[in-house]
Formats: sequence, C-alpha cells, structure tokens
Amino acid sequence: RGELLGGLSVRMPPSDPMNPTRAKLVADLAGQAGFVLRNVRLIEELRASRQRIVTAQDEERRKLERNIHDGAQQQLVALSVKLRLADAMAERDAGKTRELLGQMQTEAQEALEDLRDLARGIYPPLLADKGLVAALRSQAGKAAVPVTVRADGVGRYAQEIEAAVYFCSLEALNNVAKYAGASAAEVRLAQEDVQLSFSVHDDGTGFDPSATGYGTGLQGMADRLDAVGGTLQVDSAPGRGTTVRGRIPARVQELRS
Ligand SMILES: Nc1ncnc2c1ncn2[C@@H]1O[C@H](COP(=O)(O)OP(=O)(O)O)[C@@H](O)[C@H]1O
Ligand SMILES: [Mg+2]
Repeated sequence: RGELLGGLSVRMPPSDPMNPTRAKLVADLAGQAGFVLRNVRLIEELRASRQRIVTAQDEERRKLERNIHDGAQQQLVALSVKLRLADAMAERDAGKTRELLGQMQTEAQEALEDLRDLARGIYPPLLADKGLVAALRSQAGKAAVPVTVRADGVGRYAQEIEAAVYFCSLEALNNVAKYAGASAAEVRLAQEDVQLSFSVHDDGTGFDPSATGYGTGLQGMADRLDAVGGTLQVDSAPGRGTTVRGRIPARVQELRS
C-alpha cells in the first residue's frame, strides 16, 4: 500500500539460491506480517487517542473543580456566615441587619451569575436549544475578527455530533484570533446526503502544517471528530490563509423538543 511498516531480510546460501516459488513464499509472508504490523499500529494509535481523551477530560474536571471551589463555593460560604450574623443582629439592630441583607442579595446574585457562566461553559444552552447555526452565529458575533457563518441544509443532530462541530469550530476560530492575523473568517456548515461538513477559513498568515504539527488544539479536534467517526483536514500554507475542515457521517434528526 506504499507505506513502510518494517523490513524482512532473507538469506539463502549460494548453493541453494532463491527461486520464484520461494520468492512468492517470502512475499506472502511479508504480506501477512504487514497485516499484523498494521493492526498493531492501529491499536497503538487508538490507545494513544483514548489516552488523550481521558487526559483532556481529567483536566476539564480539575478546572471545573477549581472553578466551583474558588467561585460559587466561596461565595456560598461567605453568604452563610453573613446569614448567621444577620440572624444574631436582627433584634439588636434592624438598620444594620437590613444593610447586611442588601449586601447578601447582591452577593447571591453574583454567585448565581457565576454559576450560570460556569454552566454555559460546560454545555452552551444556545447549542442545546437552537442548534449549531444559532450557537455558532452567536459566538461569531463575539469574535475579534469579523466572522460570517453560512449554512446549507443543516438541522439538528445527536448531541455528540453538535458538540463536536461546535467545539471544533470554536477552537479553529480561537486559532484564527491567536495566530492568523486575519482580516476576516468564514464558518461553513453543510449537510450533503449522509455527511455533515464544516469548515473554518481565514485569510491570514497561514502556516505549514507538516512543519508545525498539531498542537493540543488541532489534536483535540482530530480526536473529537474521530470519536464520532469523522475526519479532520487542515489546508494551510504561509501567506495563503488557513482552512480547517471536518466531515462527519450524520443525518439531520427530527427537531428535539
Ligand atoms: N488559523 C491559523 N493561522 C495560522 N496559524 C495557525 C492557525 N491555526 C493553527 N495555526 C498554527 O498551528 C499550531 C497548532 O495549533 P493548535 O493545535 O491549535 O495548538 P495551540 O493553539 O495549542 O498552539 C499553532 O501553534 C499555530 O502555529
Ligand atoms: Mg489552538
């Protein structure tokens, strides 16, 4: 198949040289060995990609834990201390108590907003409610570079597919903002027959993917797409902008209520 998987060396004594029958035997053996080596490599790749997924999930969990611990948890602890204070103060000093209650109201509101932001980061409600196009348009509106979102025949999909397309597109847009120095970017979504495809294109500096290699962002995109049976393709060259493309086997689902 044109890829080198390993080498097989055969030595024959001069008195008993290679002949066509033996050559065929060696070729067959090499073919069999090739299959085995190829499978071993696929299994190793699979194991590595699972490991990356697990590592990424653990990292996310730790981030969430820290976020909840430093955020909402602290705010609620402070609130409960103040509640006790207010209770002790209520009869002695109604004015101070009211002031304290006012503060607590503001702080409860803040805790609520922090939790809402946190939940938004975990799974965007707009994506859950309105699907890919609306969620990506809303994100596009917040980007530093003007981003247009074009969609063709796109509906609602299983959650893991919508999440894959959404988070891959966001990471690609992050990269545009971080590296491309682009004047504009475009996100395209298209449903063709049994395939959902997306692309994120920018007119920025571009890079040489074979020299730069995948960082955690692009590798995470590839893993995410791989997990739903999809593929990632990166087209870029210095001075010619970048297009990141993903393809996933998917059919439009009924609208979920
Ligand atoms: N849109 C882009 N324009 C220019 N360079 C890019 C773009 N996207 C990715 N790159 C390059 O590819 C590298 C790998 O990207 P990525 O895998 O997301 O890793 P990270 O963002 O963590 O560095 C980046 O460091 C950058 O050099
Ligand atoms: Mg990145």
